[in-house]
Amino acid sequence: MEGRYSRDKALVEEALARAVESSGGPAGLREVMAYSLMAGGKRIRPVLVLECCRAAGGEPEAALPAACAVEMLHTYSLIHDDLPCMDDDELRRGRPTSHVRFGEWKALLGGDALQAAAFDVLLNSDMPPERRAACAALLARAAGPAGICGGQYLDLEGEGRDLTRTQLEDIHRGKTCALLEAACRMGVAAAGGDGEQMAAAEAYGRALGMAFQIRDDMLDELGDQRALGKPVGSDRAEGKTTFLTLYGPERCQTLVDELTAQAKAQAGRFPDGAFLRWLADRLALRES
Ligand code: IPE
Ligand code: IPE
Ligand code: MG
Ligand code: MG
Ligand code: MG
Repeated sequence: MEGRYSRDKALVEEALARAVESSGGPAGLREVMAYSLMAGGKRIRPVLVLECCRAAGGEPEAALPAACAVEMLHTYSLIHDDLPCMDDDELRRGRPTSHVRFGEWKALLGGDALQAAAFDVLLNSDMPPERRAACAALLARAAGPAGICGGQYLDLEGEGRDLTRTQLEDIHRGKTCALLEAACRMGVAAAGGDGEQMAAAEAYGRALGMAFQIRDDMLDELGDQRALGKPVGSDRAEGKTTFLTLYGPERCQTLVDELTAQAKAQAGRFPDGAFLRWLADRLALRES
């Protein structure tokens, strides 16, 4: 399974490099985009697109434009998340953050450009028009007020306040689960999968996404900066309520394990859910 993950990642990285090169516009702006996009990262979301396509009976390659779109959109969200007006962080994917490297206006525009280019890559691809449109609709919903932007809004509004578990779950569902869920559903859409597979992808992505963000909250305090490639202690510095501040490390890991079990059960609804089960386990214990 590890080999399959590496192969998927390589496929995605090659396609991402091509996408930025051919995105047009000033070379300086493309440099800003590529700096964050090609800096590594786990590539979980695009791998989920490819593997949910495969799990639903499609060829992973058929979902490659959708996989690139998700990763470009995710990378934009990271660039903006790190800005001084948001989480104010200086390290990302093992490098100085975009605004540290290029200055704030270039980071802002690099993020904006990646967000638009995500839809460009998808909508101008050779995927069948109906599947392309279905994927774009899923991505737009996950990126907007009911997804990342909404979650980020609540996350920042909640800084310095004590939040309840329900409030924190709303934040995490928006800022993190929405895109992971969309990635899974886009994979099924790219395969032309049926309603049962779409429902499984949605439930798998939602449980995986919540586990992923709880683990992220844990690593923000307990992780190793070198392995993470981003700062430790950022959430505390920004006065965020996190799952770790609410429950402590042991209870957090129990929650991660429960959500992982839920995700794995959903993967069982696909004709071939073995990789998705393996990935859920791998993410539950990730250190980066
Ligand atoms: C970080 O995402 C932002 C969160 C939603 C927690 P990842 O942990 O997937 O970051 P990369 O893509 O591997 O850098
Ligand atoms: C932000 O969550 C998720 C998005 C970028 C939308 P975090 O702020 O916890 O992500 P990290 O820890 O900086 O990667
Ligand atoms: Mg944040
Ligand atoms: Mg952050
Ligand atoms: Mg975090």
